[in-house]
Amino acid sequence: MIIILFGPPGAGKGTQAQRIEKNHGLVQLSTGDMLRAAVAAKTHYGQKAQEKMQAGQLVSDDIVIGIIADRIKEDDCKNGFILDGFPRNVAQAKALDVMLSEEGVKLDAVVQMEVDDEALVDRISGRYTCANCNEGYHDTNLKPKVDGVCDVCGSTEFKRREDDNAETVGKRLKEYYAQTAPVLPYYAEKGILQQVDGMAAIDDVTAQINAVLSA
Ligand code: AP5
Ligand code: MG
Repeated sequence: MIIILFGPPGAGKGTQAQRIEKNHGLVQLSTGDMLRAAVAAKTHYGQKAQEKMQAGQLVSDDIVIGIIADRIKEDDCKNGFILDGFPRNVAQAKALDVMLSEEGVKLDAVVQMEVDDEALVDRISGRYTCANCNEGYHDTNLKPKVDGVCDVCGSTEFKRREDDNAETVGKRLKEYYAQTAPVLPYYAEKGILQQVDGMAAIDDVTAQINAVLSA
């Protein structure tokens, strides 16, 4: 199965993709995570991407399309994958169609996570992740079971993203409405767009997505 989790910054794409990966055996492909890894490793792509990411703007299509085209050919993607943060404009959506047809596979569903703008800012400013295994948490909405200890790997080191400040979040939201939201009609026309209420509690959103995937 191949699905896209679609939504604005902070909608919960990463949170839900990690859960689907565990429960359904699909691989999470987050272009944001891949780009952050490239920035940290100071690769050629990473150096080109860093400035755009810090400014809350989209990284150029050739970089992200290239990253995804290479990644979906790897063995672990053969049982299916969840795209988290890709595509982010119509050109990327069209490029994805070409890649999938070359691989002889098809997109099963695009799950749109609907969340109010005010909630997005709160979610992003409270977000942090485990520095070791990348499990996601939130200052008030999703704390580790034992304070300061990752539930998954036991690490006591956590990190926050450089682009998770109020100023950059505003720019990321503008970019979402200008460039990314216009992808929705593209998938609606194909009849594969489904909505879930992303304002619901995290477990409820997971249940809504599970219902879409089993339909
Ligand atoms: P990316 O990493 O994709 O960031 P984003 O789209 O801005 O989305 P986020 O990761 O911020 O949010 P999320 O939806 O994953 O929410 P999360 O689950 O963490 O991209 C970063 C940058 O990389 C872009 O700005 C761009 O520069 C570049 N980039 C990436 N892909 C690109 C592409 N295809 N083309 C060009 N450039 C690209 O949840 C947020 C918080 O809320 C967490 O703390 C969580 O615990 C909490 N939470 C989640 N769900 C709920 C809930 N239901 N109720 C309460 N709290 C919740
Ligand atoms: Mg994310």
